[in-house]
Amino acid sequence: MQKQNQIIDSLFYLSADEFFNKTLPVGLTFDDISLATAYSDVLPRETELAVTLSQNLQLQVPIISADMDTVTEAKMATAMALNGGMGLIHYNMSEEEQLREASRVKSYVNGCIQDPVSVSPGSRIGEVLEMIEDKGYGFRTFPVVDERKKLVGLLSGHVVRNRYANISVAEAMTKREDVYTILDSEMNPNPIAAADKFFSKHLGIHKLLVVDKNDELRGLFTLSDIERIREESGNLVKPARDSQFRLVCGAAVSATRKTTGDLDKDRILNHVSALVSCGVDAIAISTAHGHSQGVGDAVRLIRETFKDLTIIAGNVTSGEGVEFLAKMGANVIKVGQGPGSICTTRIVAGVGIPQLTAIYVASRAAQKCGVKILADGGITKSGDMVKALTLADAVMCGGLFAGCREAPGEILEINGKFYKQYRGMGSLSAMKAGSAARYGHDAKDNHRKLTAEGVEALKEVSDPLEVVMRQLIGGIQSGMGYHGARNLKELQQKARYIQVTAAGQRESAPHDIIQVNKK
Ligand code: XMP
Repeated sequence: MQKQNQIIDSLFYLSADEFFNKTLPVGLTFDDISLATAYSDVLPRETELAVTLSQNLQLQVPIISADMDTVTEAKMATAMALNGGMGLIHYNMSEEEQLREASRVKSYVNGCIQDPVSVSPGSRIGEVLEMIEDKGYGFRTFPVVDERKKLVGLLSGHVVRNRYANISVAEAMTKREDVYTILDSEMNPNPIAAADKFFSKHLGIHKLLVVDKNDELRGLFTLSDIERIREESGNLVKPARDSQFRLVCGAAVSATRKTTGDLDKDRILNHVSALVSCGVDAIAISTAHGHSQGVGDAVRLIRETFKDLTIIAGNVTSGEGVEFLAKMGANVIKVGQGPGSICTTRIVAGVGIPQLTAIYVASRAAQKCGVKILADGGITKSGDMVKALTLADAVMCGGLFAGCREAPGEILEINGKFYKQYRGMGSLSAMKAGSAARYGHDAKDNHRKLTAEGVEALKEVSDPLEVVMRQLIGGIQSGMGYHGARNLKELQQKARYIQVTAAGQRESAPHDIIQVNKK
């Protein structure tokens, strides 16, 4: 009897390979399918969402915010990492600005600031003030070190003022013998616990410097960082951190060309090198057509120089495209051509594959090539994420986050409602601001009009990112609970699909009611 029922189930609810092969040659997207539930002894809150995207990059939640100029800058990337995911900082800004944005994320919460900015005893306070202004530092306390990096004192924020501009750092600083320090060897095995213990014992002290046995400066703990980390450890979602306990952050890099048409190798390598030095965890080469010579050359160039760097590249929708980028050295391949909420690539160029089929095809190639895939675009709800994650390793979203206050841009009020701008990176205004290369155009070419492949739009202002992420994470966990899947790998193994008709889609959404609460 049980066997018979199993047979019926397996005739109707098909595994990914059976299902997508049967739908040939039709391309499907998220709303075209639904997932069958399975026996479960897993509660949603017991599910584990962590994903390893490369040797050096692990996220607590498989969600990445898109490298778009109305979605991800430092604020969004910080909030994404704090909520377990990662943000990719866009490149429609100067390289210096992008570095500054990435540094903001990497230095947001520091268990131990490994390389604290220090000043020399011979400088004047006025010079320190100028440095703070120039670099845009949000802090005013600096360790003081001599030319051999030996610690000689601590310059406290309360003396870094204009009225003391002409006084030397040596005169204004707290002397070495009065500065609290810890030996680097005393921090192991748990630096946070060591610092926490120190701050609990020394009331009113906000900075603890780390030195080595030669009294050379090795790091800095701040009380506020330690408190923040302790609070986070009680949260349900763990922040996504690197091996040094810093928040993870990615950044997009343009495959810039010279006027001759050749890749501008020096510029690309200098840009990536600066990002790597500031601690960026992944770089992304995002283009509309990743299966192309230019993108392949750029990926290979970066891989040859940065052996361990996580490289995300795309976008593709074919197995060959995945294989091509994997061979060039990418670790994570972005999948999606035209599914995005602001995309017009399919309308303008007539190309692109409905997103779920594209993810399926790419996922099979990715398994063979040993790379990960990122389902990029077209996700409008947590159910889409669950469907995408049955095949992909992580998802990338723009529109879902563009209404959050953490996204760049002003809030606009129109007829009493609040909106934020959201535009495609292939829209005319975004391409003029720098992203033309992503769509194979040259923004400086004034003789030819750029052809837009994206639109400029508005998104209603939404809840803060933390609330949006909590909802999405809850939805994914719920989907996993319905599958009896404890982790994302089990979700992929257990997923069974059925195609949905237009009537089925109507049935899937609230219907035949007057809805009072749209959430
Ligand atoms: P969602 O649906 O999350 O999509 O808003 C975000 C993704 O859309 C891609 N993107 C574009 N695609 N023209 C396109 O064809 C564009 O102007 C454009 N801008 C962004 C991109 O992959 C992003 O992550």
